[in-house]
Amino acid sequence: MLEHALEGAASKGAETRLFHLYDLDYKGCISCFACKKKGGKSLGRCATRDGLTPLLEEIRGADALILGSPIYFGEVSGEMRSFLERLLFPYLRYEDWSGRTLFPRKIPTAWIYTMNIPEEMVPKMSLERVFQFNAFLLEMIFGPCESLMSFDTLQFEDYSKYEAGMFDAAAKRKRHEEVFPEDCRKAFDLGAKLCNPSQKEREV
Ligand SMILES: Cc1cc2nc3c(=O)[nH]c(=O)nc-3n(C[C@H](O)[C@H](O)[C@H](O)COP(=O)(O)O)c2cc1C
Repeated sequence: MLEHALEGAASKGAETRLFHLYDLDYKGCISCFACKKKGGKSLGRCATRDGLTPLLEEIRGADALILGSPIYFGEVSGEMRSFLERLLFPYLRYEDWSGRTLFPRKIPTAWIYTMNIPEEMVPKMSLERVFQFNAFLLEMIFGPCESLMSFDTLQFEDYSKYEAGMFDAAAKRKRHEEVFPEDCRKAFDLGAKLCNPSQKEREV
């Protein structure tokens, strides 16, 4: 879905880059507070140097940001949580209440989520809170945030080879063939929308 979103952005002339967090070697925030130190050389920046550093620098100069994660145990993946700590905390302004962000510009953002549960189960799993709070985080630091969810995903190419008897394999396959392409089209449109200059000017 992220690839489709980036294709949408590229269709509007954007230069795009896709980073896979699992390819990077990094840890979450260690609370060193170098990013909050008065007059410190890392004020507003993450002082930890590791595999995440080039990505954090890339985002500092980006005009838009789309994050994607599967839902794992009712949240985004652990790697995504660790990444968010490192991305957001340095920009979180502690000085006073006149504004919460040290990020120098407003840029449009989006979340893309995939998950096994059908949409009807979202309230039961309290996932709205997760979607809302994650959108709030990006809005607070970067700018307006949209969220796109793909529900009831196909987990296995061949369900008969796995201990997964609780799922209706035929229904999963049908949905994958009929609904998932539509989710990918929505992702394309989302990417294109984030790069629409008139949209960006309105929201900045
Ligand atoms: C460790 C783990 C935990 C998961 N937890 C949830 C969950 O809490 N809710 C859910 O709907 N799906 C859960 N899933 C299913 C994934 O969200 C689903 O397979 C998703 O489509 C994977 O993303 P992908 O299709 O982009 O690879 C979990 C899968 C794994 C491997």
